[in-house]
Amino acid sequence: MSKYIRKYLIAGNWKMNLNAAEGADLAKEVAGLVGHQTLVGVTVCPAFTSLEAVAKVVEGTNVSLGAQNMHAKASGAYTGEVSAEMLRHLFCSFVILGHSERREYFKETDAEVNEKLLTALDGNLKPILCVGETLEQRESGAMLEVIKQQVEGGLAGVSKDKLENVVIAYEPVWAIGTGKTATPEMAQEVHAAIRKLLTGLYDEGAAARVRILYGGSMKPENAPELLAQTDIDGGLIGGASLKASAFADIVGAAVKLAS
Ligand code: 13P
Repeated sequence: MSKYIRKYLIAGNWKMNLNAAEGADLAKEVAGLVGHQTLVGVTVCPAFTSLEAVAKVVEGTNVSLGAQNMHAKASGAYTGEVSAEMLRHLFCSFVILGHSERREYFKETDAEVNEKLLTALDGNLKPILCVGETLEQRESGAMLEVIKQQVEGGLAGVSKDKLENVVIAYEPVWAIGTGKTATPEMAQEVHAAIRKLLTGLYDEGAAARVRILYGGSMKPENAPELLAQTDIDGGLIGGASLKASAFADIVGAAVKLAS
């Protein structure tokens, strides 16, 4: 099945950077550069505090909005947390879940990520489920087992008809913010393994519709080759998403491949 049944998605994960005014400025630049094309999906994921300002800037453009996390419960006594409904109210379409930084620093488990993912889908948010191995896991040969656990754990209870609203991001932990990128072949191997897993869990047709993004030091220089791989359907960009021109160049690489 051709990869072009899937629309490329280039998502910027701004992490804990930029206040609301700075976020709005960056979003304005991004929207100016890539907000008019429709071949490739583009989304930016600012900090919670910037969502409203960025939402106003990207309204009416082809740049959509995502959050970086959410709580699994609908509402209640969870001081400091934010619900799916609150994110929808601010026009979020996506929510990043299970990022390795949340798994590492906030000890999020697959079960917690799964609970959030089911809530997100119920609340009409498209989850971007992050999975990826550490260097130690790769070197010890446990990589595919780790990925399997994270994919199966994260997707538990997701029905076949909801699967196409899920985006998976493969982010090898050793490649995040380090300047070390997985080679296109290394990334493709894992992406293909994830799609095979999805085929086993659902079926070939459902697996073929899921977008699997690569994340980890993706930049304009390496994006064309990564995005050309059969099972790489976009990118989750950290550092390079904070520079409008670099982010737009990555979107441009996807547009070229999709044209
Ligand atoms: P970098 O692009 O900075 O390596 O970050 C990747 C990432 O963690 C995106 O979620």
